[in-house]
This record gives sequence, C-alpha cells and structure tokens, in this order.
Amino acid sequence: MDRCNDVSDEVAVVMVPLPAQGHLNQLLQFCCIFSSHGLPVHYVGSAIHNQQARLRANGGLDPNKIAKIHFHDLPTPDFASPSPNPNASFKFPTHLQPTWDASQLLRHPTARLLRELASKARRIVVIHDYLMSYVVQDVASIPNAESYNFNCVSVLSMVSYMYRGLGKKFVADGELRELMPPPEGCTTDEIVKLGIAQMEHLSVRSGDIHNSNRLIEGPFIDLLEQNETAQKWKKQWFIAPILPANPNLNSKNPKNPNPCLDWLDEQPQSSVLYISFGTTTSMSEREVRELALGLEHSKQKFLWVLRDSDKGDIFSGKPREIELPEGFEERVKGVGMVVRDWAPQPEILAHRSTGGFMSHCGWNSCMESITFGVPITAWPMHSDQPFNSFLVAQVLKTGLMVREWADRGEVVNSSAIENVVRRLMASEEGDEIRKRAQKLGENVRKSAQEEGVSQMELNSFIAHITR
Ligand SMILES: *[C@@H]1O[C@H](CO)[C@@H](O)[C@H](O)[C@H]1NC(C)=O
Ligand SMILES: *[C@@H]1O[C@H](CO)[C@@H](O)[C@H](O)[C@H]1NC(C)=O
Ligand SMILES: *[C@@H]1O[C@H](CO)[C@@H](O)[C@H](O)[C@H]1NC(C)=O
Repeated sequence: MDRCNDVSDEVAVVMVPLPAQGHLNQLLQFCCIFSSHGLPVHYVGSAIHNQQARLRANGGLDPNKIAKIHFHDLPTPDFASPSPNPNASFKFPTHLQPTWDASQLLRHPTARLLRELASKARRIVVIHDYLMSYVVQDVASIPNAESYNFNCVSVLSMVSYMYRGLGKKFVADGELRELMPPPEGCTTDEIVKLGIAQMEHLSVRSGDIHNSNRLIEGPFIDLLEQNETAQKWKKQWFIAPILPANPNLNSKNPKNPNPCLDWLDEQPQSSVLYISFGTTTSMSEREVRELALGLEHSKQKFLWVLRDSDKGDIFSGKPREIELPEGFEERVKGVGMVVRDWAPQPEILAHRSTGGFMSHCGWNSCMESITFGVPITAWPMHSDQPFNSFLVAQVLKTGLMVREWADRGEVVNSSAIENVVRRLMASEEGDEIRKRAQKLGENVRKSAQEEGVSQMELNSFIAHITR
C-alpha cells in the first residue's frame, strides 16, 4: 500500500464488482471519486476482469486516478467461456452464467484480503455489487469493516426486482402502473436464484448507494422511501452521476485519436444517431440486416458500433465477425460509419454532433445518455432494460420505443427501424424530445457540481465513511 500522511489514509475503500462490463465500469468510476478525495482504493476480482475493467476505462476518467487504484487479482478457478448464441430470440446472456457462478467462489480469498487490509487501516469500507453480497459476508466478523450495497441498476428496476423476489408484483401509482412493462421474460431462473441467495447476506450492510438521483427517478425514490420495509433499512444515498460529467470531451485528444470522433467532428450539430447495444446483446444475421436496411432507408446520419456480446473471458478467442448486407458500407459512405472495435461511448454521447442514441438501455448507457442530454430510441433486450426503457420513454419522455417489450418475440423489421429513426432525428416531435433530453442533461450535470444535490449526497457519503 502507498504510504501517505493524509488522515483519510486510515480509511480504505474496497470495491467488489460483479464481473460484467456494466458493473465493472460503474465501480471503477466510483473508485476515481475516492481517489480524488485522497482515499486509498482497492479493486477486487479475477485477473481477467481486473484487466478488462482497466482496458475499457471510461475515457473521461483521469489516468492518474486510475493509476492510484490497487488492483487485487484474486485466484479464480477456470470457468467456461462459451460464445453467445445470436439466433436465440430470448436475449438474456445465459452464456455468462459460468462467469457469475465462478465469481461466487471468491469468498475466501476476499475475506483474507479484507482481514489483511483491516489490520492496517482504521476502517475498511467495502462497496459491493448486490450479486456479490455472498462473497463479502465475512465483513460481519471484522470489527473495523463495514459494507455498502451498490445498486448498479435504476431504482425503478431495483424496486421491481425486490418486490418480485418476495413474490409480490411491483405496484406503481395510477398512470404509471398501466404503462409498466410486465417483468416477464427479462431474466433466467438461474440468475433469479443467484439473486435470492444473496438476500440473507445483505443484512450485514450499513447502507445502499444508488447510481441514480432525484432528477431522474424522483417518483421511484419516493416510492422506495415510503415503503415500510425499506424504511427499516439503513441509510440510502443517491449519488449519480458518477461518470465524469464535465470532461473535456469535445476537443480532440491527441494522445488518443479515434477515427469515429474525427468523423463526428465533421458532421452538423445533433445530426448523428449513435447505435450500440452494449456488451451483452448478440443479434442474429436477420436482425442485423433489418437494422442496416432501416438505417439506410431513413437517410439519417449514423455511427453504428457493431459488436457481438462479450464472452465471460473477453481475451479468449476471436469474437464473431458480424456480416452486413452486400454493398451496405459502400452505399452509406459519407452518411454512416460502422465501427467494430471498442468505441469511446461517453465521448461520442458528449459530442455536439450526436443527436440521438439507439440503445438497449443498459443502465450505464442510460446514465451516459441522460447526463450528456442525448435522447434515446429504446430497444430493450433483457434484465433491467425494459424498466429503463419505460423510465426513458414514458416517465422522462426523453425517448421513443423501437419496439414494445410485449413484442420481443418478433424480429424488428426495417420499416419499423426507418420510422423510429425518422421520428427521432427528422421530425418536430423528435426535436421536442431532444430539447427535453438536453434540458435534463444540463440539470443532471449541474447536480454534480458544487452545491448540486448529487454532489451533496456524495459529500455526505464520504463524510459518513471517514467519520
Ligand atoms: C444462426 O443461424 C444462421 C442461419 O440463419 C446460421 O448460419 C448460423 O450458423 C447460426 N448460428 C449459430 C451460432 O447457431
Ligand atoms: C414494501 O416492499 C415490500 C417488499 O420489500 C412489499 O412486500 C410491500 O408490499 C411493500 N409495501 C407497499 C405498501 O407497497
Ligand atoms: C413491420 O413491422 C411493423 C411493426 O411491427 C408492422 O406494422 C409492419 O406490418 C411490418 N412490415 C412488414 C413489411 O412486415
């Protein structure tokens, strides 16, 4: 451990993420916030996933802060890392289950590390993914350790899962209840079982941290706070955004040039639709073809990140080369760009030329899009995504649905794509939605500045753990 005379050095923060990109990313971003407060931060996982987190660090993060994080590569048994099945109409990434099962075996090495860190610090503060509650359970037997559950999904999703876990249906108020997507078909029994197995270990925690805030999820945060069960919980903090909300992303970064950012620089303001379905979506050839033709027929500018779902070990084997319709890239030259590498998503969303985002609505993508004021065409695939899409399209009204959750069994055809792209990118309705998204983005970015509501919540959390 680095020696440093700062008083805060007596309190060490330990992050225990679930090994999945969206989760690794959120806790890595959170690490950088503690680093800037001079607190030592430890990041715990397998060598593979620690490497993955570093390699794909959000481009807005300060490399000096990342360099200060202590990565602990814990011994992890080999786990199967099969390829995703692009032809499955059920989109949940079942091929990642062996990775998550292996993560549950980290309990003993994690406990050893926590004891060692606790012997040198005044207090250790463990911040963990909900699905790692089992792994960090030994916090209970370390007198100077305390743990916090980090909610990586929207409050709306969390509340919905919580009620379902207890066999109850989520009850929202009036109008919202009518519009809520049914929670069916989002996940597998395996992951629900893994979730339920965490519950008995959750009582160890001293509080919950949510990657959301009142500007985004006010009604659902109220609902959570009014619930008699939740009122018995320990303290809650709503600290989003934790991504760098004011990075200097619009100017070229000479150290890290990227052809897609250069291309964006040449496009008119708010003219480009950015398309990406994150790291856990695999699309069939037919789905890709319909999307490609829909984009082409819409005649709108686009930047499309075309990648297959991650495997459990992203370093093993080559991902599938996804085929586009014959001659597509030639025909759309100058109008659209296809990227097959890892793309700098926060930089793209913060770019002035980006005017829309076609997204699966994973929570990182939603938070980035909301923070940078970009409206969404929502195409939920699995897990919490139907809830997030509902939040964006129906509650915040900063997006449109590509297709409703109830129609998830059908392939979205090219004319549906063409329509929704035109509605968002080339209509008065789209301009209204974009204005609303920009206004929300401004407010969310302000909330992370000094005296802003999120900044105050964050300060309150830091004051609490360093008390
Ligand atoms: C998916 O279906 C296509 C034909 O539509 C086939 O060529 C391909 O091999 C299938 N892929 C898998 C992984 O089953
Ligand atoms: C509060 O939440 C619990 C689940 O934790 C649920 O069973 C209960 O019905 C909720 N109460 C109300 C009034 O919605
Ligand atoms: C495409 O999908 C839309 C919406 O589901 C449907 O109304 C339309 O009939 C479909 N068009 C074709 C050509 O299948």
